[in-house]
Amino acid sequence: MTEETDVDADYGFEPAVSATGAPAAQPAARLNRGAGASWGRRPRRSAVRRKLSALAIMVGALAAMGGAYAAFATSSGAQESSTSAQQITAGQQLYQVSCITCHGANLQGIKNQGPSLIGVGGAAVYFQVSTGRMPLAAQGAYAARKEAKYDEAQTEQLAAFVENVGGGPKIPTGELRGGSATIAAGGSLFRLNCASCHGTTGKGAPLSAGKIAPSLNEATDKQFYTAMLSGPESMPVFSDQEITPAQKRSIIAYVQALRSSADPGGAGVDRIGPVSEAIVIWAGGVGVLMIAILWIGARVR
Ligand code: HEC
Ligand code: HEC
Repeated sequence: MTEETDVDADYGFEPAVSATGAPAAQPAARLNRGAGASWGRRPRRSAVRRKLSALAIMVGALAAMGGAYAAFATSSGAQESSTSAQQITAGQQLYQVSCITCHGANLQGIKNQGPSLIGVGGAAVYFQVSTGRMPLAAQGAYAARKEAKYDEAQTEQLAAFVENVGGGPKIPTGELRGGSATIAAGGSLFRLNCASCHGTTGKGAPLSAGKIAPSLNEATDKQFYTAMLSGPESMPVFSDQEITPAQKRSIIAYVQALRSSADPGGAGVDRIGPVSEAIVIWAGGVGVLMIAILWIGARVR
């Protein structure tokens, strides 16, 4: 196998391919350019090998994009598995650092500081922490949406801990947005159950006593779902008996469609849209470009 030795360096990008752990791409990616084979008269074999190697590189590149996509997809938590003891312990540690002063050592709540968290479930914790409402910065401040302090994994750890102690609705998993066929039904449900506070376009509206129902332009599918399950502040809880999981998914489909379609005139630049989708589109576009570049490069040789 001496002929397959010294050629790695010819592909500047080879480390990127192998770093993704796509070993299948490696052997074939090496060209037969070993001892004595001159550029002018290479054995026929090498032409075939070149084609094979180009193919292998493309497969490797595709695998790389797939891996990157999978990393995004799982980090967005679409289907996290059941909670582990490790998660609970990690969540307890986070809780003791930033929640215990207001919610108490046993989640029992502390008078004038924070309510009991017994029975609120992982869903409430997910909603509050992922929308940046918790940990509350200062007592008495309206818990508005702000940048989340904890990442997705830490949020799930906190949720696991609170759920383990007090039970309650879990963080939903799987696909949370209904298909396009459910949008119309979702619209009726939205007008019936949500529009009175959030407005027919989801723009948000003032409520009594200086409170507001916020705009629905920023929430992710999972935040919608957990908002309905937990009923933050003056929002009612919409249990699975009142609004079934399928109906919840259709409401989410409706609101997200509303958000991406309606921008009646003017520059809607601040409505940048779901970032996760932009990342996927961006990654996909770069992937196609990379493949095109590799393909052209392989043909020129
Ligand atoms: C400065 C005090 C304070 C801190 C710190 C704090 N909270 Fe809260 N929390 C509150 C108050 C007050 C409320 C009720 C107000 C509201 O819902 O907006 C609340 C509400 C909640 C709720 C909603 C309960 C329900 O019935 O739906 C959850 C869940 C929650 N907090 C979790 C946490 C977690 C997790 C942390 C730590 C990461 C945390 N909180 C840190 C004061 C605090
Ligand atoms: C009685 C009024 C009321 C109704 C009805 C209501 N909400 Fe809310 N909603 C609120 C309030 C108030 C908040 C803010 C809670 C907070 O800040 O803790 C909120 C927050 C939310 C959020 C979080 C927004 C964000 O970006 O942080 C979502 C999502 C949401 N509601 C969805 C819904 C959906 C879907 C329905 C119908 C199924 C609904 N709401 C019905 C009052 C309401």
